[in-house]
Amino acid sequence: MSKIHGTGIDIIEISRVEAAIKRWGKDFLRHVFTQEEIAYASQHRFPAQHFAARFAAKEAVLKAFGDNAHISWKDIQITNDRHGKPECRYKDKKFKKKILISISHTHNYAVASAIITS
Ligand SMILES: CC(C)(COP(=O)(O)OP(=O)(O)OC[C@H]1O[C@@H](n2cnc3c(N)ncnc32)[C@H](O)[C@@H]1OP(=O)(O)O)[C@@H](O)C(=O)NCCC(=O)NCCS
Repeated sequence: MSKIHGTGIDIIEISRVEAAIKRWGKDFLRHVFTQEEIAYASQHRFPAQHFAARFAAKEAVLKAFGDNAHISWKDIQITNDRHGKPECRYKDKKFKKKILISISHTHNYAVASAIITS
């Protein structure tokens, strides 16, 4: 039977992410997001919504871990399956649990939740 090990949620104002992209451009994107995440968000009409959602998802995962684990932004990658459902990959070969992600965004806000399960 699977067990829930942690849960986290985060909400972010899309304008904050948009401002960071305007100010620091590719340096900001490459610091926070993987190539796959950049490619996914960039193909949309309003990329900042998708970047903000991924930012929120990464924060939600950190909360789900719940400790001060030394995790960098790109250790957590959010991609989408062929139906659009978000998937999370945590770049640690020793990590055997699953991380379930859900995302939503409006014009102003992006929200994401993460559940760590076995
Ligand atoms: C999935 C769905 C509920 C998204 O709702 P929405 O109100 O349009 O958009 P929201 O802002 O709330 O959510 C967007 C996020 O939903 C997530 N999402 C998309 N498709 C999803 C799916 N099949 N299952 C779970 N989550 C999904 C994505 O993470 C997306 O954000 P992202 O593109 O930045 O990763 C909506 O597209 C839907 O009802 N789909 C029905 C199934 C469908 O049409 N599938 C088409 C592909 S087969």
